[in-house]
Amino acid sequence: AAPTLIDPFMRAITYLRVSVTDRCDFRCVYCMSENMTFLPKKDLLTLEELDRLCSVFVGLGVRKLRVTGGEPLVRRDIMRFFEAMSRHLESGALDELTLTTNGSQLRRFAGRLHAAGVRRVNVSLDTLDPDRFARITRWGRFAQVMDGIDAAQEAGLRVKINAVALRGVNDDEIHRMVEWCGARDMDLTFIEVMPMGDIGNEDRLDQYYSLKDLRRDLESRWTLTDLDHRTGGPARYVRVEETGGMVGFITPLTHNFCESCNRVRLTCTGQLFMCLGQDDDADLRAVLRATDDDEALREAIRGAIARKPKGHDFDYSRQRVDGTVSRHMSVTGG
Ligand code: GTP
Ligand code: 5AD
Ligand code: SF4
Repeated sequence: AAPTLIDPFMRAITYLRVSVTDRCDFRCVYCMSENMTFLPKKDLLTLEELDRLCSVFVGLGVRKLRVTGGEPLVRRDIMRFFEAMSRHLESGALDELTLTTNGSQLRRFAGRLHAAGVRRVNVSLDTLDPDRFARITRWGRFAQVMDGIDAAQEAGLRVKINAVALRGVNDDEIHRMVEWCGARDMDLTFIEVMPMGDIGNEDRLDQYYSLKDLRRDLESRWTLTDLDHRTGGPARYVRVEETGGMVGFITPLTHNFCESCNRVRLTCTGQLFMCLGQDDDADLRAVLRATDDDEALREAIRGAIARKPKGHDFDYSRQRVDGTVSRHMSVTGG
């Protein structure tokens, strides 16, 4: 379908990020607290409700669907959802069906994901050091993720690594990651850490590593050429001439991508967030459960898009953290 969701700033909404669970088998320090309280199952959208809602979005012109969490692959029966969504790929309504994952379950699911039409996965991995990995993810097992990445590549999925840049945590590893990703033919994206969740603001400020600095550091060793390549997400890409690989930069703190924002986010309870960095949401679950009439859903979605804000307010300047969002990243899936 042609894009019909146009927000007040004339941005066409063609990218839906769907969180299918708030649960995760890891507890990354910048994403969750150690003892998270998870939602009762009845609050989650069922797979049938997710199907209905996503299909309505596709009918309204969404062309890219990214499944997130929490960790999407820990939701029971989630493959059924991917398999159901593949009909929208087959009909040509969707250009891309994809997911962002911590990689822990890829060995089990990579083949089925590929069979459902997934061609690319983004795997979150901030370090290549097993001990460090254990500290960042608290519960994660490094070897399991490495094996998951192998499985994804064996199944024919393109892998992109997402690394949150953290000063004093992984800033000494960026060259190694560029090298490793280049050698394995994987793209790599660095992300600036955003002030979300419940970690003290001072910590975020201490850990904040501007990608301007990171890029300068990379340039001390690699030749970077700016590319026009876009994937429909917020990253700006460069080519690393020595490895032939692509490196992306996602820089929320410099506000350079909000004006071309094309996405909204659905939580696993059916709340639609118009911006990752703002609190406004629309309760689509209430509409879903009140009526079988999809027109009511379309009305609710249009009404929500009409309130999409211009951008987020994240800001670390003046040695202060502004625009903090208290919700955990795992609610809206990044
Ligand atoms: P590609 O399809 O590969 O371009 O993926 P993507 O970058 O859209 O998705 P991914 O899940 O890999 O996103 C990487 C991270 O970028 C997210 O987890 C967020 O941290 C950040 N991000 C993505 N979209 C937005 C956005 O609209 N606003 C902000 N502030 N950050 C975003
Ligand atoms: N800031 C930036 N990125 C984050 N992610 C999780 N929490 C944060 C944060 N506070 C990233 C994860 C993953 C994606 C879903 O979001 O590393 O790549
Ligand atoms: Fe899980 Fe991803 Fe959050 Fe880490 S960042 S706790 S892997 S959802």
